[in-house]
Amino acid sequence: MYDWLNALPKAELHMHLEGSLEPELLFALAERNRIALPWADVETLRSAYAFNNLQEFLDLYYQGADVLRTEQDFYDLTWAYLQRCKAQNVVHTEPFFDPQTHTDRGIPFEVVLNGISQALKDGREQLGIGSGLILSFLRHLSEEQAQQTLDQALPWRDAFIAVGLDSSEKGHPPSKFQRVFDRARSEGFLTVAHAGEEGPPEYIWEALDLLKVQRIDHGVRAIEDERLMQRIIDEQIPLTVCPLSNTKLCVFEHMGQHNILDMLERGVKVTVNSDDPAYFGGYITENFHALHTHLGMTQDQARRLAQNSLDARLVR
Ligand code: HPA
Ligand code: ZN
Repeated sequence: MYDWLNALPKAELHMHLEGSLEPELLFALAERNRIALPWADVETLRSAYAFNNLQEFLDLYYQGADVLRTEQDFYDLTWAYLQRCKAQNVVHTEPFFDPQTHTDRGIPFEVVLNGISQALKDGREQLGIGSGLILSFLRHLSEEQAQQTLDQALPWRDAFIAVGLDSSEKGHPPSKFQRVFDRARSEGFLTVAHAGEEGPPEYIWEALDLLKVQRIDHGVRAIEDERLMQRIIDEQIPLTVCPLSNTKLCVFEHMGQHNILDMLERGVKVTVNSDDPAYFGGYITENFHALHTHLGMTQDQARRLAQNSLDARLVR
């Protein structure tokens, strides 16, 4: 089944480039940039990848991203991810990047963007992988900081297709960024947002009604609100679900409790994604395979999930 799932053509719609930083590359970049690391070796770092919630993961994820300094670093990070896409028949990807994670450390916006954009261009030309980049705002930071980030991005508007919203969800509702998203849409960007991962169904309503998103990232807590479920079914709003992430971050205690196949059978447009593959134990095929192993996902269900991902692309 693994090989069959691997060969299935699919799109990945929820993947943070900074979350694809494998420990081996992290150590290599630290050496290249002469940065001292708090972990003795790759194994020690990997053994720290045990999280009780989103925030525990984010603390390590931002710490890891500190080794990314030069345009070449961002190129290498993105290129390594695209090689994984090639190996797993991901024919199209719409990754996120978090500019504020880097600009707040003094890395110029264009250094980050140029490295990523060049790799995505090479991915299209040399690997045949379609792509569209999503600029994600960090929701634990202020509205004003998000507005400044949007200002920085506008000279490079052709490099992105959409803006998104990630980082610590609880206490940072989508409504906090309504004006930023209004402006982003008026500048021609599409919108997506993380909602209903740890946060309540109300945050999904806000993402839809206030941020006017094309897709909900995660959205698994929609199942707690029947009226919301009816809406996302009626309007066929895609959910970019990340099974391994959800179990690693204890959104579900065990994969056997995950609701993605229940949602699929109810007619929700759910998709399978890896979120932060270097931290959560696998890329997209590993996510599909876990659904087969723990929930008995059939080939027919896998085909529908993969088709949903192709249908839910923002660019084609
Ligand atoms: N949730 C919120 N923010 C994130 C995530 C996530 O799963 N991954 C990287 N940033
Ligand atoms: Zn995410």
